[in-house]
Amino acid sequence: MERDIERILIPQDALARRVCELAGQISVSYGDPAGDIAIVSILSGAIIFLADLIRYMPMKMKIGLITVSSYHGATTESRGAKLMKDLNVDVRGRDVLIIDDIFDTGQTLRLVQGLLRERQPRSLKTAVLLRKPAKAPPDVKVDFVGFDIEDVFVVGYGLDYNDHYRNYPHIAVLRPELYAGR
Ligand code: IMP
Ligand code: MG
Repeated sequence: MERDIERILIPQDALARRVCELAGQISVSYGDPAGDIAIVSILSGAIIFLADLIRYMPMKMKIGLITVSSYHGATTESRGAKLMKDLNVDVRGRDVLIIDDIFDTGQTLRLVQGLLRERQPRSLKTAVLLRKPAKAPPDVKVDFVGFDIEDVFVVGYGLDYNDHYRNYPHIAVLRPELYAGR
């Protein structure tokens, strides 16, 4: 795996520090004592961010998982988002926090925010680990962002390329020849 990596963009220790900080900011935003919030996390890219973040959030919560496909096979091009598997948690009247790995073209978050809004939550906020500001459309709002990054395709810490590299502990860029022809 290591030899496929061209460079590390955000090392593991910086991720850990920022995730902890972000969890603090999110927790404070729900007041004290916070109610029983509903987390809605988007699979599969957010798994590691989710697992790390929620362990620094001391409030009561239920965790729901939703599957949205945005990349089909080995491509780095966003081709629109489609709901593949719906939620196992009722969000009506609840404080809902969407957690995703990255805010790229915003198609995934636009879909999920729209879907959840229809179900009338009490409040709806969104937290992402990464954002590519060069691409992020102004109509999709996120409340918490870990890092703004340049417009490059990244892997690691849950993010994949063709379903590989999710277990790489840093956020990194692959050697360009691996993306060639995509
Ligand atoms: P969007 O719908 O274009 O905002 O893309 C969001 C989804 O595409 C994210 O939840 C990721 O799963 C995936 N994605 C977007 N950019 C990257 C990247 O640079 N590396 C890996 N996955 C990405
Ligand atoms: Mg994703």
